[in-house]
Amino acid sequence: MYSIAEFQNLFSDSLLESRIKSKPQNLYEPIHYILSLGGKRLRPTLVLAACNLFSDNTKQAVDTAIAYEIFHNFTLLHDDVMDNSPKRRGKPTVHRKWNINTAILSGDAMMILAQTLIQNTPENVRPQVVEIFNTTALEVCEGQQLDMDFEIENSISDAQYTEMIRLKTSVLLAACLKSGALIGGGDTKSADLLYNFGLNLGLAFQLQDDYLDVYGNSEIFGKRIGGDIIADKKTFLLIKAFEFAQGDMRKTLDETIGNKSINEVDKIKTITQIYNSLKIDEMCLNRIDEFYRKALNYLHNLQINPERIKILEQFSKEIMQRNK
Ligand code: IPE
Ligand code: IPE
Ligand code: MG
Ligand code: MG
Ligand code: MG
Repeated sequence: MYSIAEFQNLFSDSLLESRIKSKPQNLYEPIHYILSLGGKRLRPTLVLAACNLFSDNTKQAVDTAIAYEIFHNFTLLHDDVMDNSPKRRGKPTVHRKWNINTAILSGDAMMILAQTLIQNTPENVRPQVVEIFNTTALEVCEGQQLDMDFEIENSISDAQYTEMIRLKTSVLLAACLKSGALIGGGDTKSADLLYNFGLNLGLAFQLQDDYLDVYGNSEIFGKRIGGDIIADKKTFLLIKAFEFAQGDMRKTLDETIGNKSINEVDKIKTITQIYNSLKIDEMCLNRIDEFYRKALNYLHNLQINPERIKILEQFSKEIMQRNK
């Protein structure tokens, strides 16, 4: 049985980067750049931790773990173009450091690399894992499309929001866990419990990302604070503001959201003040907690050694306490 730190050793940055060529430089350098900026390495850790619930041969899941991390990083390159984000992991985004064409093509290459590496999944479960990977990759695109569509719509419901984040974020965490479980020899019932654990953890995780986008510390979070407000993203926070703001506050909200001519700093300030007066930060933290508890329920239903479950439980707790 391994600890989380040991999984993270199994999955070193040098191993990750050793899979990436270097020429043509303008294609591969941005890939090395984004991968070298680290990040939490959440998804590969989930693959390895899920595998280790059922098997001590965690190494067999390493290429699958790498595939998921490269896929995730690909989505970040394109997401930052779509969201017009200047900063990622504390450094300039690829499209700002190079240009949009570079972010598109290096991102495409990463998607192909991920697709190639997923084929190194152990043969006995390869067809299932490839199927999960492809279904999930398409769902992430669907979620990203909804996220963009919602920017220009003001009447998005809580349920529509939850479905959007399920697709753009949660299914990937769920897929990592399910894939790891299958590689480790877990039965279908356990793999599905882990998938549902991941779905709910992912919902909590994206809500927390939305929260940190307003209330985080830019130095630690590594991204620009207020980016979602500037882009009119229909986050949980904004949806609740539309639900609860009344009178003058509602008027200000209607005049500010969707208005591209307002100064960005003023827009962030105005909307954050509305969130603060309506205590939307608390509502968001409560919702995060609800999804987290739901996630843990699935985890606790697994019929395996509780000592092994504890490692994943501790890891998910750490994720929930993150500020980056
Ligand atoms: C960022 O993911 C995109 C979201 C789904 C919120 P992470 O917060 O896992 O990013 P890194 O990999 O740690 O940088
Ligand atoms: C992330 O959503 C979903 C992805 C598929 C990348 P965000 O747009 O909120 O992620 P960040 O905040 O830029 O990391
Ligand atoms: Mg983004
Ligand atoms: Mg986005
Ligand atoms: Mg975000």
